[in-house]
Amino acid sequence: MTGRFLTVEGIDGAGKSSHLAALSEAVRSRGAEVVMTREPGGTPLGEKLRGLVLHDAMDGVTEALLMFAARREHLVQVIEPALARGAWVVCDRFSDATYAYQCGGRGLDRAVFAQLEALVHPERQPDATFLFDLDPGVAAARQRAQRREPDRFEREAEAFFGRVRDAYLERARTHAKRFHVIDASTPLEAVRASLMAAFARACP
Ligand SMILES: Nc1ncnc2c1ncn2[C@@H]1O[C@H](COP(=O)(O)OP(=O)(O)OP(=O)(O)O)[C@@H](O)[C@H]1O
Ligand SMILES: [Mg+2]
Repeated sequence: MTGRFLTVEGIDGAGKSSHLAALSEAVRSRGAEVVMTREPGGTPLGEKLRGLVLHDAMDGVTEALLMFAARREHLVQVIEPALARGAWVVCDRFSDATYAYQCGGRGLDRAVFAQLEALVHPERQPDATFLFDLDPGVAAARQRAQRREPDRFEREAEAFFGRVRDAYLERARTHAKRFHVIDASTPLEAVRASLMAAFARACP
């Protein structure tokens, strides 16, 4: 049995985390080992880098470099070994998030992104990416209901998340084969049904 690499993407508050358990369960029900992980993070060093990028002010290129540094560790220590032993990896954000947040949100040069991606994972891309698409105003309202301390990204204005959303949709168009765009504006159960339908199409 060969492993598969599945990622979930979307702006802050779009609903990714709410469906991770269901997605993992769908994979497990096929008899596969599931590794659930997240970015930035996924390794002890990656989690330290996560703390830095989420809370310390820094230059945009520095931010992208730290994201890719954490990703490299994650690939080498967790993702590639899991896929090699036939496990399925379900990852909360991957390089599409760097494209959306750093290129779309912060204005990082797309050519620089492409160079970093080619350096850090020249061969590897997710087998399927589930993009939770939601209006930034709705996502912000959902997050406010959570009442926890916002990180450096969550404090950004709605216009920032509008650019992030647009960059995600742009990426979905240029990588149409692996992307599955899910309308995240509907109630939880309807979003879950869309996700499960997309999973069945992606992994028949
Ligand atoms: N379909 C939905 N309808 C209404 N509320 C929802 C829906 N999906 C998620 N929520 C709520 O919205 C909030 C954000 O959801 P969640 O944490 O899953 O988003 P996320 O994409 O993982 O965000 P982040 O990127 O910040 O981790 C939560 O309080 C969650 O309960
Ligand atoms: Mg989340």
